[in-house]
Amino acid sequence: MEMAEKTVADWYANHPISAPHILTKLTNLRGSAADITPQELYPYDQDHYDGLNANARLAEKAQMKSGDCVLDVCSGLCGPARWYASELGVDVTGVDISPNRVDGANELNTLVGLQDQVHPVLGSAMDLPFEGERFDAAVSQESFLHIPDKSKALAEVFRVLRPGGRFAFTDWVMHTPLPEDEMEQYRQRFACQSLLSIPEYEAQLKQTGFEVISSEDVTASWGEILARRLSMYQTLDAEAERAGNPSKGNDFLKMYAQFVSDVQNRRIGGVCLTAEKPQ
Ligand SMILES: C[S@@+](CC[C@H](N)C(=O)[O-])C[C@H]1O[C@@H](n2cnc3c(N)ncnc32)[C@H](O)[C@@H]1O
Repeated sequence: MEMAEKTVADWYANHPISAPHILTKLTNLRGSAADITPQELYPYDQDHYDGLNANARLAEKAQMKSGDCVLDVCSGLCGPARWYASELGVDVTGVDISPNRVDGANELNTLVGLQDQVHPVLGSAMDLPFEGERFDAAVSQESFLHIPDKSKALAEVFRVLRPGGRFAFTDWVMHTPLPEDEMEQYRQRFACQSLLSIPEYEAQLKQTGFEVISSEDVTASWGEILARRLSMYQTLDAEAERAGNPSKGNDFLKMYAQFVSDVQNRRIGGVCLTAEKPQ
């Protein structure tokens, strides 16, 4: 694991969305954790913007269909992976660098009986632990910001996709280059390693060999979603502290408010990209 990836894994070890937090919440709500369905987890296990709508959009863009083998790059607790598996009947392999995300994903998969359809694997997006061309489609959500060398990760996705397979993903982008001290704040507070502009992303995909199918600037809708997410983090943080789980504290929340403002002012933002590996 590279140093930057170790920093990311440490950051996610203290994330307010965690398997223990989800289980505590559900047990309090329904009395026990017995016979939980994947659907009951959905309000809590999606660590990206716009929840299930975003999953549905990416699945459509990646042209997922029942029986497909799908790769989720940086799969976290496998919230999206469980949704793709149970709602669309695909088999999902998730790869994630953070041991506590992979352990949490395994625990939640088993709890809802999806352990044979959703496979979390500990590994780096820059060095995927799979043999070539075995996936029909690949997805990723707001994760490449954590990856120091995005060209390496894109090349790895390209390598493991079958010809004609699509990679649909969302990520943070930079609209205006940020001063180094502000970028350093993003590194420290969000484990954000580097950001590309939308044209740079499109160019990197093409250099890798992908054909760019679509590229949407989603900054405006993220501005609204993020403001709601900030209040969710404020609530989760207070709950995590009360439950004795790690809290991110005021510094994180202050920085998140700065992030929301940077997105609303189009200094940074979001993109949804779909790319295809040529036949
Ligand atoms: C924002 S979360 C997204 C989780 C999940 N895709 C979701 O939407 O719920 C980002 C995830 O990327 C993972 N990650 C960051 N850098 C990585 C890398 N180099 N290789 C693999 N996973 C990585 C983190 O551990 C974290 O679980």
